[in-house]
Amino acid sequence: MSARPSRKVTFKVFRFNAETDYLPTYINYDVDVTHENVVLDILTHIKNEMDGSLSYRRSCRHGICGICSIKVNGKAILACKQNVDQLIETYGTELTIEPLSIKRAMKDLIIDKEDFWVKHAMVKPYLDADVEDKPENEHFVTPAQVDQLLEADYCIQCGACHYSCPSLEINEQFIGPAAFAAGFRFQADVRDNQDNERLNAVNQEGSGVWDCVKCMECAEVCPKGVNPIEKITKLHNMVFEAGLAKNNIATRHAVYFKDSVRKHGQLDEAGLVIYSEKGYGMYKHMKVGMQMIAKGKAHVNIFNVPKSDKMDEIKKLVDSCSTAKF
Ligand code: SF4
Ligand code: SF4
Ligand code: FES
Repeated sequence: MSARPSRKVTFKVFRFNAETDYLPTYINYDVDVTHENVVLDILTHIKNEMDGSLSYRRSCRHGICGICSIKVNGKAILACKQNVDQLIETYGTELTIEPLSIKRAMKDLIIDKEDFWVKHAMVKPYLDADVEDKPENEHFVTPAQVDQLLEADYCIQCGACHYSCPSLEINEQFIGPAAFAAGFRFQADVRDNQDNERLNAVNQEGSGVWDCVKCMECAEVCPKGVNPIEKITKLHNMVFEAGLAKNNIATRHAVYFKDSVRKHGQLDEAGLVIYSEKGYGMYKHMKVGMQMIAKGKAHVNIFNVPKSDKMDEIKKLVDSCSTAKF
């Protein structure tokens, strides 16, 4: 089988030096791309053959160190893992290469990740266990107990999810998906015997797990399949189970969501807003509510929400999968 011929692709690359530049520029580099090339090959080619002043980070070249994460056409990728042909299929032959976070750019594709590490430290991303000075045996962990970590330990701290999260983009206090995944990883570890300190850290209003808007972007971009939103949902449950949940709009939203499905077999959108918001807060959703009613996505009469004809089955499902103290 003959190899596919190379294709000429224009890479429009973000250039900026925080020490000397007021605004960034974009420089176009035309490169012949083969079907085997990953984005890091292109950056290396540009630096070695076309423009030695281009700066970017790379180390392992095997998707392990997490340092080469950047954005192509706005989507976070690992440069050493992302095949260019696949990008061409999606975006065509003009690709824009930018740092993970433009506002944190220091030199070209290199960013200042300090906020990422500060957030990471907030969740105590380490095992907190009492260990004897001279233990006689290893602390055995069964395969089933390892499975409880849900592969959260696959995270390579690349920051792709953190710098793609819309909640974090508008709220600098939000701890972010990578740190939550790390918090879950140690909270779920049977050897960890920290009380509620870690859960209290992720349970804060304005910065904690309740400010996630469940857009799924973190799951979408993660190159290691960590699925941070799944870990955030687990932390919600852990907070409830530990009896730490406070009565606020986010926890009321979770409570009503479950109750609505258990009661009607479906989500009662209007009731959800009324219960979660309480008082006057619900009036700010009036316009969207009317639009939803017009499109048949919400019920006018919250006292007469239609029920599924499989209620017995649904109730059993909800009861069997719910361990949280709501
Ligand atoms: S699901 Fe939540 S944490 Fe993940 S990107 Fe969206 S808002 Fe951020
Ligand atoms: S969860 Fe995934 S995307 Fe986020 S930092 Fe870890 S490896 Fe990167
Ligand atoms: S260079 Fe290490 S993950 Fe890409």
